[in-house]
Amino acid sequence: MNMAPALIEDLDFDREILEQGELISDKLNMLRLEQYPPNALKRLRQFSSAEVADFLGVTQNHIKKLHLEGKGPEPQVSGSGRRSYTAEQMMELRQYLDKHGRSDFKKYVPQRRRGEDLQVISVVNFKGGSGKTTTAAHLAQYLALTGHRVLAVDLDPQASLTALHGIQPELDRNLSLYEALRYDDERKSIKELIRPTNFPGLDIVPANLELQEYEYETPLAASGRHQPEGKLFFTRISQALKEVDDRYDVVVIDCPPQLGYLTLTSLSASTAVVITVHPQMLDVMSMSQFLLMLGGILESIKAAGASVKLKWFRYLVTRYEPTDQPQAQMVGFLQALFNKRMLTHQMLKSTAISDAGITKQTLYEVEKSQFTRSTYERALESLNAVNGEIASLIHSAWGRK
Ligand SMILES: Nc1ncnc2c1ncn2[C@@H]1O[C@H](COP(=O)(O)OP(=O)(O)OP(=O)(O)O)[C@@H](O)[C@H]1O
Ligand SMILES: [Mg+2]
Repeated sequence: MNMAPALIEDLDFDREILEQGELISDKLNMLRLEQYPPNALKRLRQFSSAEVADFLGVTQNHIKKLHLEGKGPEPQVSGSGRRSYTAEQMMELRQYLDKHGRSDFKKYVPQRRRGEDLQVISVVNFKGGSGKTTTAAHLAQYLALTGHRVLAVDLDPQASLTALHGIQPELDRNLSLYEALRYDDERKSIKELIRPTNFPGLDIVPANLELQEYEYETPLAASGRHQPEGKLFFTRISQALKEVDDRYDVVVIDCPPQLGYLTLTSLSASTAVVITVHPQMLDVMSMSQFLLMLGGILESIKAAGASVKLKWFRYLVTRYEPTDQPQAQMVGFLQALFNKRMLTHQMLKSTAISDAGITKQTLYEVEKSQFTRSTYERALESLNAVNGEIASLIHSAWGRK
């Protein structure tokens, strides 16, 4: 065999990976600067009156009538007479309907009322690519579009949810939730970390690589260097959220694909959990490992005083292709096993979702005209069914019918 020792003689791995990391980062920054200039705040498109009717739960005729009678916000009207509204105007319409509507029982602005607690939903699974970020982003945006006050928290150092909201983790110098979790005197209030998004009613706490520090510092803190609060790692997110409890109805947390301290702390702060699962053998096997490990860890942190008190948890089938026999069988298998813990609706696999992702957009942001009508409609229908089901669970947790 032909050995080539000369090639490895001068290898200084540490230095070289650092240099190469910097090289990639610089080049990527240049690319991104060209494609997305800094401070170019993302804008949100208009919503057609059909979409508005859907989000509000009224008929299109109702909306048309309001406009013709000069009531509520003034939509944009196209040459062919089509009405469209901004997301802000959709909220104004809700407020108008609550004020002037005939119905006493239906509330169009669904925000928390007295006695209803802040709902904190973690989207988890340590399997990479199981659809956590896609689920979290669309759920948070759906809840905002349906009138809730929402805080999205990106807890993944890879910062995909952050990037999806037009914030560039490296260029924009954001602070991440790490600043509110850290164990030293530099700890900041979560209020300083929250940023608005292009969706009215939706704010975000961005992520960056610094979040990873929490994984290293937590065991050190627990071993005594930062007593006494170091021991209470699992309450750090709930403590941080307490400061903004009155500003939001729902918090959606996108967890990293690891079962580390970030995920555990998020679970301890949660009132509900969505476990995303792609219905394929390897993914389901990996999920079973995840459940076993998680169960074991939760038991041991419970002994240390942590409590995970959930109102509900559900498995969500993601990227589902119902025409693929093995996948359909796997979904049947999961339904038989987990039964009422499965969301009844699945998130279908769609090029509309993955293509939108390429330009850092969600299905709620892209222009419908970019896609074949049926492709877009099918994806949106599945997405709204999933999100609508989760919204119902939230409302049930508040004790609403
Ligand atoms: N319903 C869907 N249809 C088509 N593509 C999808 C769908 N859901 C997610 N994807 C694509 O699959 C990929 C992985 O999804 P996503 O980033 O949401 O997973 P994740 O669990 O957050 O991954 P990670 O573990 O790396 O954080 C992305 O490229 C996304 O665009
Ligand atoms: Mg992700």
